[in-house]
Amino acid sequence: MLTRRFEELDEEKVFKDPVHRYVHVRDRLIWDLIGTKEFQRLRRIRQLGTTFLTFHGAEHSRFSHSLGVYEIMRRIIEELKNYVHWDEEERLLALAAALLHDVGHGPFSHSFEKVFGTDHEQFTRDIILGDTEVHAVLERMGAHFPEKVADVIAKTYENKLIVSLISSQIDADRMDYLLRDAYFTGVSYGHFDLERIWRVMRPRDDQVVFKRSGMHAVEDYIMSRYQMYWQVYFHPVTRSAEVILRKILHRAKKLFETGYRFKHEPGLLSPLFRDNIGLADYLRLDEAVILYYFEVWQDEPDPILADLCSRFVNRRLFKYVEFSPTNLERYTELREAFTEAGIDPDYYLVVDSSSDLPYDFYRPGEEGERLPIHLLMPDGSLRELSRESDVVEAISGKKRTDHKLYYPADFIDDLSDRRAAKLRIKELLK
Ligand code: NI
Repeated sequence: MLTRRFEELDEEKVFKDPVHRYVHVRDRLIWDLIGTKEFQRLRRIRQLGTTFLTFHGAEHSRFSHSLGVYEIMRRIIEELKNYVHWDEEERLLALAAALLHDVGHGPFSHSFEKVFGTDHEQFTRDIILGDTEVHAVLERMGAHFPEKVADVIAKTYENKLIVSLISSQIDADRMDYLLRDAYFTGVSYGHFDLERIWRVMRPRDDQVVFKRSGMHAVEDYIMSRYQMYWQVYFHPVTRSAEVILRKILHRAKKLFETGYRFKHEPGLLSPLFRDNIGLADYLRLDEAVILYYFEVWQDEPDPILADLCSRFVNRRLFKYVEFSPTNLERYTELREAFTEAGIDPDYYLVVDSSSDLPYDFYRPGEEGERLPIHLLMPDGSLRELSRESDVVEAISGKKRTDHKLYYPADFIDDLSDRRAAKLRIKELLK
């Protein structure tokens, strides 16, 4: 089929969306990207990983989030049209990058990355540049178009305005996920006035700034982010499920490496265990596949693998206590007591840490330096947000970290054997 580069569809297509009401598609390029198998695969990957075990509504997919980021980008481009000239190629570049920014995510990506060292950003690049349907669609726009899309997502593209709209302290990605995750978890925080933010956006040099009159909408967005991190994303119960998931993967990999004979071979997971997973094998993994293995591994002769899988599938999660990572003595003693009690501490005594920096002003040269949000004052000057907003100032640059120790309370409560060791564990966990 021969397509003109900037072809529009005969009729606009719409997707019904609970957050944005409708997602509008007019460009052939975007419509065809949505139809690729790599993009359709995102329907089978949840946006929030194990969060559905805490907030049962959180079943939404990366597919819906990706469409949402695209829609926000489309609306921002509309708003900014009055202030900045977009040529047709740049407009489609911004839209395609918004749509594809998460295309390399796999099932439970963050846990997989910790265990296997895979990198969803690298897979995003591979999908855009490799032998895929996504690449074939992008290439119709010109030989260099796929690379430009990958560069926007990697933040190396020359037009920094486009880059900042997809990835900065206030961007289309975050605007969508905060609202979407609030909607699907059902929490009452996390809301802010998206349309108001768009209306006060102005391009200035290479970035977007916000009219002073819209400051409170921006404050709301920052607070929403702050609340969502601690109330939803770092929820201790979600982290408990994540800890178990990671330990299942650790255990299965270890068994694989030591020549254990699985009753149910790990099949599609074996390339991960061999540490050489390629794009084609990676694209075959989704959450249904992972959960299939967890289901059948409940019958494995290896008691640790079977127990951990049963915990995940049936939601029998680990309990937790606060933990100070500097208190090594307590941790060492606990490990000893676990071993004495016949509970392998490598799998059943897990420290998990979360930390977040809700907003930061510019600190040149520091690790993770971030571009600040600027307000456009009535006299035309710029002012960094935390200098003008007391609310934002209160949380600026403050990194909060939380450490917890996870363990299976049911094992320790069962005093039918190794009573003394278990009582000591209880004492130490107080
Ligand atoms: Ni995203």
